This record gives sequence, C-alpha cells and structure tokens, in this order.
Amino acid sequence: MAGRDHITTPVSALSPEEAADELARLAEEIAGHDRRYYQDDAPTVSDAEYDALRRRNSEIEARFPELIREDSPSRTVGAAPSQKFAKVRHAVPMLSLANAFSDGDVAEFVARIRRFLRLADDEPLAITAEPKIDGLSCSLRYENGHLVRGATRGDGFEGEDVTANVRTIDDVPKRLRDDSVPEVVEVRGEVYLSHADFARINERQAAAGKPVFANPRNAAAGSLRQLDPKITRDRPLKFFAYAWGEFSGALPADTQAGMVGWMQALGFVTNPLMKTCGSVEELLAVYHDIEERRATLGYDIDGVVYKVDRLDLQDRLGFVSRSPRWAIAHKFPAEKALTILRDIEIQVGRTGALTPVAKLDPVTVGGVVVQNATLHNPDEIARLDVRIGDTVQIQRAGDVIPQVLGVVLDKRPADAVPYEFPAVCPCELKTPVVRETTAGGEEGAVRRCSGEFACPYQKVEHLRHFVSRRAFDIEGLGEKQIAFFFEDPDLPVKEPADIFTLAARDETNFKKLKDKEGFGTTSVKNLVDAIEARRTIPLERLIFALGIRHVGETTARQLARAYGTWDAFFAVARRIAAGDADARAEMDAIDQIGDAVVDAVAKYFGETHNERVVENLVGQLTTIEDAEKPLEATPVAGKTVVFTGSLEQMTRDEAKAMAERLGAKVAGSVSKKTDYVVAGPGAGSKLAKARDAGVTVLTEDEWFALVGERAGG
Ligand code: IVH
Repeated sequence: MAGRDHITTPVSALSPEEAADELARLAEEIAGHDRRYYQDDAPTVSDAEYDALRRRNSEIEARFPELIREDSPSRTVGAAPSQKFAKVRHAVPMLSLANAFSDGDVAEFVARIRRFLRLADDEPLAITAEPKIDGLSCSLRYENGHLVRGATRGDGFEGEDVTANVRTIDDVPKRLRDDSVPEVVEVRGEVYLSHADFARINERQAAAGKPVFANPRNAAAGSLRQLDPKITRDRPLKFFAYAWGEFSGALPADTQAGMVGWMQALGFVTNPLMKTCGSVEELLAVYHDIEERRATLGYDIDGVVYKVDRLDLQDRLGFVSRSPRWAIAHKFPAEKALTILRDIEIQVGRTGALTPVAKLDPVTVGGVVVQNATLHNPDEIARLDVRIGDTVQIQRAGDVIPQVLGVVLDKRPADAVPYEFPAVCPCELKTPVVRETTAGGEEGAVRRCSGEFACPYQKVEHLRHFVSRRAFDIEGLGEKQIAFFFEDPDLPVKEPADIFTLAARDETNFKKLKDKEGFGTTSVKNLVDAIEARRTIPLERLIFALGIRHVGETTARQLARAYGTWDAFFAVARRIAAGDADARAEMDAIDQIGDAVVDAVAKYFGETHNERVVENLVGQLTTIEDAEKPLEATPVAGKTVVFTGSLEQMTRDEAKAMAERLGAKVAGSVSKKTDYVVAGPGAGSKLAKARDAGVTVLTEDEWFALVGERAGG
C-alpha cells in the first residue's frame, strides 16, 4: 500500500520551516511524477492533480522566494532521459508552458505582457491561439535540408536520440522542399496518435496478449521510444510542427504565424485551427470554439496555447525559469463522471499518514477506466458526507488517480453506510491513530499511525524513500522491487543495510535473485553493480535518505553543509537526542533550520531502533562524501542591484528579470548592501545616494558588458 501526505495548510499559514519542508517534498514528488510520465510512460496521477502540485509549489515559492530550491520543479522541465537511447543535448532548451485555468488567468497573462512591454492601451498586441496537442514534443534537426536527427524533450536540456524512429513518421519530411533553407534548421512539434490508430494498436496489443495502452499519449510515447524502429513503423505516429530551436542565419519570418506558414511551405503538417487574435475576447472565443470541436478532431488535445505573435516581442519577454513569458497553455477543465463508491480503503504513507481511497465501480472517463479516487483525509469525507453505496461524481484530467467531487444525494440508497475512520492502523499491530498537530499547534486534517518504525507499512515506505531518486537512487531497485523484497521470505530486505547484503546473502551465486520475478541474468548483474556503486554516497543524500521527518532535500543539504562530515553530524544528532542543549542551539542556528527539524532529529535518533538501523547502514558504506561548498556561477550572483532612471534598452521588468535570472537580488532603494546601481538618464536621488555611499554606478551598456549579455537573451 502506498500513500502520500496530503496538503492541507493554507500557504498563508505556513511557517518558513514548513514551507521549506513542503517545497522539498513537492520537488521530490513532482520529479517522481515527471519520471513516471516522461520516462516510464506510466503516470500515476491525473494531469489535474499534477497541475495542482505544481501550482502549490509556485504559490509557496511566491510567498517564500528565499526558499526556492535549486532543483525546484519551477526551474526544471520533465525528467532526465532514460538510459536506453543515446543522449542529445538541445542547443536551445526545450522548455515548458505555464498554465491558465480560467478566463481571468488569460486576461492576467495578456495584462502582464502589456505591463512588461509597457504597451499603451491602444497599442495592438497580436497573440496566436492553437490547440495544445496531447502527445510528446520532439525536435527535428535538418542540415542542408536533410533530416539528420530526431530527439525527445527529456528534461528540456537533454533528450534522447530517436532519429531512426522519427524517420518512420510520414508527417516528418526527410528532405525539406525548399533548397534555399539555412544550413541548420531545427523544427519542433508534437508527435501524437489519432484516436482511430490508437484503437487499432490496442486491438493488436490485446490480440497478441500484450498490455494495452491507457491513452493515445502513452501509446505514442511508447511507440516513439521503441528501441526497434520496426515496431515504431507499425504504429502510425503523426506530427504537428509548431515551434523551432536552433537556426543558422536569420529566421525566415518575424512572427509566430509567419514561421508556422514557412514550416508548412517546407512540407510540415501544421495545425489548421491556429488563429491570430487581437484581444482577450478573441482568444477566449477561439478557446471555446476549439473546445466545442474537441470530440470530433480525431486526436487528443488538452487545451489551447496562446503565443505572442511578434518574435521581437517574444525575445524581449524572455523566460521565467522553465517557461516563456510570451506563451501560456489554457487548459480544458477536467473530465467528470458518475459511479458508485463501493468501499473506502486506507493507505499508509512513510510518515504514517492515513489516506482514504475510494474504491469505485469501474467507469470510463475520457477513455480511461477509473476504479480508485483519493478522498484525501477524514475531514474531506465528512465535508462530502460520502457514504458507502453512494453515487459519486469523480473528476480526472489526464490519466490515473482521480478525485471525488461530491455525492448525488438523490441516488443515495436507504442502506448507505456512513464511513467510520479507523482508530487504529490497518496493519497487524493495530497501532492507535492520532490526529496530527500542525507546527502552529492547531489540529491538522491528517491522521497518523503512531507506530513509526514498528509499523510494517511505514517500514516499507521508509525503504521506498531510501531507494528513491533523490536518496540512494539504486537503478533497478525501485518502489516495486523494494516492496517485493520486504515481503520476500528468502532474501528479505527489512532495513536499508539489508540491501547491501543481498548479494552476499544469496549464496547460490545469484541463482535465487535470478529466479525472482522480473530479474534476468543481466538485470541481476546490473542490480548488484548498482548497489555496489552506492556504497559511496554524498553526505546530503545519506541524511535525506534516512527519512527523518521535516528533513527534506534542502534541509538535508543545509545540515550536510553545516556539519561537513557524517561523523560530525551523527555525533551532534546523538547529543541532541540525549537532550544536550548546546548541540540543540547549534543546529537551531543553522540557516533555515528551526525547532521542527531539531525536534524531529531528537526524536529520530532518540529511538534505539533507529540508531541501530543507521549504524548498520553506515557499516555497509565505504565512503560518505563530505558536503560540497556552493558554487558561484555568474559575475552578479549573490550581488544586490538597484535599477534607476529611465532605462533605454529594456523595461524595468526586463532588467529585473535578467538580473534575477543571473542570480542577483534586485532592490528598490540604495543601501549599504547595494553592490551596483544601474542608472539610465534622468536618475535622481538614488544615483546621488549611490555616489555618496561609494556604490559602483553602471550605465546600461556597462551592465550588459558586466553580465556578458544584452536585453532579449
Ligand atoms: S509551444 C517554449 N505549442 O506542451 C514552449 N507546445 O507544456 C514551446 N504542446 O512541451 C511549446 N501543443 O509538448 C507548444 N501547440 C503547441 C503545443 C505544445 C502541445 C506541448 C509541448 C510542450 C508542452 C508545454
């Protein structure tokens, strides 16, 4: 049983420690979903749930900008590529789009652009609207008009070389029609499958006794990422061109629509529904029109993408972390359906949180059969007043695990049974369940099993966490395998150290391992090698992997940097557990670490059982690498900059965005902490103050020279 902690605290009520902790959790959770979506083609949450996680992450970051993580999902796109294909570095990163969910979001998008560019109200601003194809993005590189490479997006910076496979796609020209094209042209777009072809592929899969795909997107992804291009050839993939990457020489057009027209003239298929609009009202009209046609298009779309038409404006607008400021995806609302709730099951997560899951009569929502939906926590069950036997409305946007929205009271049977939330953990220990108290001392919505490490569910979840990507990340030993070894009578893995003794315990020279389901000769060898490789581990990963409450990745990194070595950290942790006030105060003084973390460390290392588990583990490791010092990246990283006067080559917003992208802080007024004042004509008191204080004053050009780039990239 897997479970996750559910988010309940309003962002405004979060303490900095809670925020840091949640951001760490969100980073890991979103990365996991990205991996399952992009690499494994097997997502486990709906798009709506995924979007909600990203939104929550952005909301917390907006309130606590100082807590934005290096690995924040808002700075990364998708997941790193899988090992099977050669890697391809994208010359121009393949970024992602921010989402709009309402008409208001669209109005705000347009208003933001106008503000950023300082456009007068009567100045026209053309924006294109086109369907957001629910497939996977792909880059096609042409040299002297010949297709030389196809690549997937991967993590946005590095994708996979799928050249042989894209060559099988009819919509992808192998030679460009025009002989005078620039030497290097990289066309980007979406690989997708039509509904009809998807149905045929699934029929064939079923007839051959193979697993069927959940939806056209997964089928397209699975087909494009086939190691055998012959299989791809039998899957009639299609391609819409809508963007571009690397380009030698000048672009052939100066608008988005012009570029798309150019691509069409070269032989690419472009989407016929693309329109250029002049106002928010027009954009929304196109959105509703496309939404109405959705069912009859013959392929999946999940929204409408708006893009500023003029390319010079796109350049000026630039990017905010992972997405362009000049484009947004207006998502369609999630799909809904009615079904009967037959039962409620409890899942226990790593921290003991009990999550109720609705067991439903299978129902098809947007082409996918749904049988489970999350109910979050007992308060949600009470709020919905959902009873067993009720007809419920559920919602899903893209893939699995949907949500229960409400009950259809008219259909409630007389014998519908109210649900009683269990007072004890569903495991055999039947440990009492307690209501969590939040850091603010209030009652939280989450119920937890108090069994901690004695609880078998929590033990499994701890092991899962231990092997997760941001912890020990052992290739071939994922959540599934670890749960399997936990139950295995022959080669049990009950605690982390057991992973490192697996090979030694299998005295039959891996025969036992080879006999396990899913392990062939090579994968056993790979697994053993992967485990051996992890006997060397960076300190911050080790601390994170321990699964101490409130110690997410950022906190683990802070602790690692503060103590430097494992011995120093472990000694302090034990002193804290023993009640040493000096050790407590010392940890409390570390940047971004507060009482919640110190208490959690005290509690964790105060358990004799944990101390033994940790010692066993460390006994199996060869090297715990000391913590690294942070890197200095750009000439202005960590510097404080003030912009003043009327800038001539960029707006104030652009200047601010540029400085922040380069790691500088932008302040509104000059103080002792100011490193640079960038002054345009007409600068007044701030400039005078800067001169008085001896702060370095730069012109716009000097600023560009310092940072090594100009406005617009
Ligand atoms: S433009 C810089 N246009 O949506 C961003 N993307 O979340 C360029 N997508 O990775 C992307 N249809 O896979 C663009 N008409 C469209 C699209 C589209 C689907 C996908 C694409 C991208 C993702 C962004």
